[in-house]
Amino acid sequence: MSHQLENIQQEALTKIEQAKTMLELNEIRSYYTGKKSPLAEIMKGLATATIEEKKTLGAASNQVKQAIESAVMAKRMALEEAIINAQLEKEEIDVTLPGYSFKKGTIHPLNQVIEELEDIFIGMGYSIAEGPEVEVDVFNFEMLNVPKGHPARDMQDSFYINENVLMRTQTSPVQARTLLEAGGKPVKIVCPGKVYRRDDDDATHSHQFTQFEGLVVDKHITMSDLKGTLSLLMQKMFGENRRIRFKPSYFPFTEPSVEVDVSCFKCGGKGCSMCKHTGWIEVLGAGMVHPHVLKACGYDPEVYQGFAFGAGIERITMLRYGIDDIRHFYTNDYRFLKQFEGDR
Ligand code: DAH
Repeated sequence: MSHQLENIQQEALTKIEQAKTMLELNEIRSYYTGKKSPLAEIMKGLATATIEEKKTLGAASNQVKQAIESAVMAKRMALEEAIINAQLEKEEIDVTLPGYSFKKGTIHPLNQVIEELEDIFIGMGYSIAEGPEVEVDVFNFEMLNVPKGHPARDMQDSFYINENVLMRTQTSPVQARTLLEAGGKPVKIVCPGKVYRRDDDDATHSHQFTQFEGLVVDKHITMSDLKGTLSLLMQKMFGENRRIRFKPSYFPFTEPSVEVDVSCFKCGGKGCSMCKHTGWIEVLGAGMVHPHVLKACGYDPEVYQGFAFGAGIERITMLRYGIDDIRHFYTNDYRFLKQFEGDR
């Protein structure tokens, strides 16, 4: 190989080796292999050479060209690898960084109280019953001893869908449904659910709220069973030392009917703002199942007796947590709801 060719190859390989970027490498490549490259100049000069010279020099300059090409190729791969490595270095993932945390939702305070009540009653051998929120007049009123035109309907003036269908005004219709389904057998159920009434919407009233109904029908059921059950309930909900008292009341589907008060859990019964200085807080309505209801549902009131009760879940929850406005339950304000995180 001529001295000249050797020099060109040496020079090109050194430059290729020193190239720092793809751009630089491409420039070097086109300089040494292009039409105006020193190699091309030598080839042009061969025009006047002998055949022998043409052969040896032609082969040699091809060798040089190939050496340059393969050096470029190798350098290109090395540069590409370096680029990828640099990028990987920059984008390094730190597996020790803390992950993103997701906010877990919480069970709504009303549902927390419902679940707690259900647990208490399941522990006493009750089953959970359910009924439709769109109810027929017969179950919502008539089977419960409230015939058409009965004045007790006025208190529950409601949302009618037609003359005989309405949004249920109480969970009590589930009493009649359960008794009919049980076909004369003993019944022991609680039923939580939404109810609807035309009402003012203010701090303590809402046109939609939640009730918790209880019903026991069996032989030899007396008012002391009712009192024992509700005492235990109040102790579980409001503290071990709670006592209850009955005040005479009226509900069409119970006889006798009572309002149930619990001794104030804030002052212990001495009198404070919570209990309006009476020592007692009204929490629910109850009574012995009216013979008319038993009869309408196929039970002989001479043989079977029962007790029933109905409580407002919002009221119990508000008392328990000192919530001052019923509307907090329905506005989905995270600041309110998150205070009940992890309670259940
Ligand atoms: N259903 C009644 C109401 O909405 C509450 C009630 C009272 C339910 C006495 C009962 C009961 O089961 O025995 O006001």
